[in-house]
Amino acid sequence: MPQLRLNQQLVSVPDNRLTTSLLDLLRETLGYTGTKEGCASGDCGACTVMHRDAAGQISTCNSCITPVGAVLADEVVTIEGLRGSDGSLHPVQAAMIACQGSQCGFCTPGFVVSMAAALARRADPAQPLTRTDADTAIAGNLCRCTGYQPILNALERAATEPEQNPFPTTPLATTTPLATTTRATAATDETATYLQPTRLADYLGCRERHPDARLVAGTTDAWLEVTQGYTDIAQILDISRIEELRGIEVHDDRFVIGAAVTLAELFDFFAERDAYSAWSDTLHRFGSPQIRARGTLGGNIANASPIADTPPLLLAMGATLILQHDDGSTRRIPLNTFYQGYKVTALTAAEIVSAVEVPVLPPQAQLFARKYSKRTEDDISSVLAVVYSRADANDRMLELRIGLGGVAATPLVVDLSSQVTGATAQHAVATTQAQLQTLLQPISDVRASAAYRLAMARSACAEALSPPGLRLEHVS
Ligand code: FES
Ligand code: FES
Repeated sequence: MPQLRLNQQLVSVPDNRLTTSLLDLLRETLGYTGTKEGCASGDCGACTVMHRDAAGQISTCNSCITPVGAVLADEVVTIEGLRGSDGSLHPVQAAMIACQGSQCGFCTPGFVVSMAAALARRADPAQPLTRTDADTAIAGNLCRCTGYQPILNALERAATEPEQNPFPTTPLATTTPLATTTRATAATDETATYLQPTRLADYLGCRERHPDARLVAGTTDAWLEVTQGYTDIAQILDISRIEELRGIEVHDDRFVIGAAVTLAELFDFFAERDAYSAWSDTLHRFGSPQIRARGTLGGNIANASPIADTPPLLLAMGATLILQHDDGSTRRIPLNTFYQGYKVTALTAAEIVSAVEVPVLPPQAQLFARKYSKRTEDDISSVLAVVYSRADANDRMLELRIGLGGVAATPLVVDLSSQVTGATAQHAVATTQAQLQTLLQPISDVRASAAYRLAMARSACAEALSPPGLRLEHVS
């Protein structure tokens, strides 16, 4: 029987539970009811648990939208696992009491786990926690009654205590059967309910043997079919751990980013590169730490949501997708021809997105992104506007592309390069304003009116093409 490494113990899990939510396993089967269910859709953080992968990376996830099979290769810690072996409270738990960080208490376990993970993840525990670090730590947790200041006070207080890592020094060895390099949940993958290949060749074999298995990666969106659509998934083929899909190659002229690279890993990659702050700023506001730890770049692209946050960046930069066919072949397709209608793409049923080629920014090129949403953190974009511009040595425009989310049925790109070649930035602003007014026909919905969306898209372009000193520092 498969085993889950949970709270420093090995727990046997029935094979038929692997395709259900981790939260349901914890609460209903194992009796760990400290982890709460609020929204069941990855928005509130009440169900947050901590996990550590084989490389020692500590993250959090929303257990409501994480299938059990997805974390069999990891170690998981819940609120119950934060207690010391002598029954003492974790420093975050003690600080929450001292700082009065809890009222009704429903959100509290999720907050405590998020904060404990942030402390356990620190590269240098001797360094004080910055306010940005603290805000980021709890960005995926909602509290309806206490207010955030006492919670932040508790985190600040706990950060001064000696580090307390809730994971065992040496990972527990499980007896979960592994079929060669395919992590299958039974002795052979013929009877397994959860397939998690780690090599591309094994993935292709799984596709041949199990053509009806549901393909998933980070499940941050797919799992809403389960929690909101009440669909049962009988067999899962999880592509999130395929090594060939997990790397980022850096070439002179392009980055080749594997589709299973998580949004958190992508943030780390671009945060080290100053010219790409549009990426790191946008990814910092993508969902929450819990979502970024599991959501993948390929999933965000292939899901084809009109409000996905990475496609406008990729479209503005002129990215190309590499698609993997079940027969082993691959093909390349420019992203600007991939989206064909609302939730309709050029992918066939026998293909997955395997990588994205992103051109390196050439000299004199700039990338600017502005995300508009009702809240700064953990919120969906009303509009995301990304402006790629390149000028010559005399500041005359050579290229101008605008990637947009939230203004049409698909993410889209408006390429104005031919209309602004040789123009000054001021002239390019005027051209852009007129073109967007004509080309964009956004809808009004619960997030924003059509007029607001159009105004924000135009505003972002004007800001992007303005001299840096005139730009706004931060708008949400
Ligand atoms: Fe709200 Fe899981 S219950 S994020
Ligand atoms: Fe009640 Fe946070 S203490 S929701």
